[in-house]
Amino acid sequence: MILAGVVTLGACAEHTREYDTSQQHFEPRHRFTADLDMYESPSLEPYQETHLFNNGLTSQHPVAGTIPRGFMPYPYPNDTSGYRRAGEEWLNPLESNAKVLEKGEDLFMKFCSHCHGASGEADGSVIMNSKFPPPPSFLEGNSSSGGKLLDLAEGKMFHTITYGKNMMGAHASQLDHNERWMIVSFIKELQSEFIESTSDEPVVAEKLDMTKSERIAAGEGIYMRICIACHQIDGKGIPGAFPPLANSDYLNADIDRAIKIVANGLQGEIVVNGITYNGVMVDNGLTPNEIASVLTFVLNNWDNSGGVVRYEQTKNARD
Ligand code: HEC
Ligand code: HEC
Repeated sequence: MILAGVVTLGACAEHTREYDTSQQHFEPRHRFTADLDMYESPSLEPYQETHLFNNGLTSQHPVAGTIPRGFMPYPYPNDTSGYRRAGEEWLNPLESNAKVLEKGEDLFMKFCSHCHGASGEADGSVIMNSKFPPPPSFLEGNSSSGGKLLDLAEGKMFHTITYGKNMMGAHASQLDHNERWMIVSFIKELQSEFIESTSDEPVVAEKLDMTKSERIAAGEGIYMRICIACHQIDGKGIPGAFPPLANSDYLNADIDRAIKIVANGLQGEIVVNGITYNGVMVDNGLTPNEIASVLTFVLNNWDNSGGVVRYEQTKNARD
């Protein structure tokens, strides 16, 4: 075997140079520390034959139930109950110090900011330059599973980074356990800075008697922040998954029913413009006044029936 190697190497050498056989030696000329010198390595090479193991090979599978050093298993399955349990039980083990936040920011900029934006406001380059649907803003948006992202449990963030969510891909193969937590720490920091920056603003009482154009303007902002994630920027939804609000026979047939849907969410089978949907829309937590505005915006766009939805119609809509 060794001889074959030497011969092959010799064959590769330049023709003009003779191979000096006097240099060839199979035994070390000098031994230093008895048998422990490097010539006769006492350790086994990978994939070498050996009589030490039953399968006759040096390479063995890890023992069942063991994990590689440094690897941290993630115990929750990729489904809604796993997401919910992660939110309740899976806690960030890292202290949020300058070092963790700096590393978290660096990773966020490399893996997330092209969609979520450098400050988490969903204005990354992919979103601004393509038709990729914007994720909700970490500061002002809502989770597609309900609730404000500002209140999103750290374990749920970790879960989404691990498995992805709808249009967002999984990142478990790019980011190890610790790196995922560092990013979560960074997002939480972005969010608490935002909360601090807004908490000084005086709370303005909601104006309830708005004109139609005021409602359309306010409603557009709400639509872009919340409804767009599913019903899309053109109101056309995604056939089979999210029903259209644009020219929707279902919507225009019964505005009071639409008010109830936005106030309480909806699940179960419905047919919109001839296509059957059987999805879940959650209660997005809008105030009655916001519901009036967002529906006024929807009704006055995309070939819908127009009109104004007033606070009086929405104030008792929540069950
Ligand atoms: C290709 C664009 C894209 C990239 C890259 C991306 N995301 Fe997302 N992200 C989305 C979209 C779209 C959603 C909305 C998914 C949904 O709920 O339907 C989302 C949702 C989220 C949510 C909210 C999950 C919830 O519970 O509602 C978090 C947190 C999040 N992303 C974190 C990250 C982090 C951290 C990274 C980087 C490791 C990242 N994302 C990379 C597009 C992206
Ligand atoms: C997370 C995704 C999601 C978000 C966000 C969302 N919806 Fe929906 N919406 C749905 C789904 C799914 C259905 C159909 C549910 C079913 O099949 O029972 C639906 C149904 C509707 C309907 C009745 C069907 C139709 O097409 O006319 C209206 C009206 C509606 N949504 C309005 C809104 C408004 C307004 C917002 C923003 C405040 C909003 N939705 C936010 C997913 C969503």
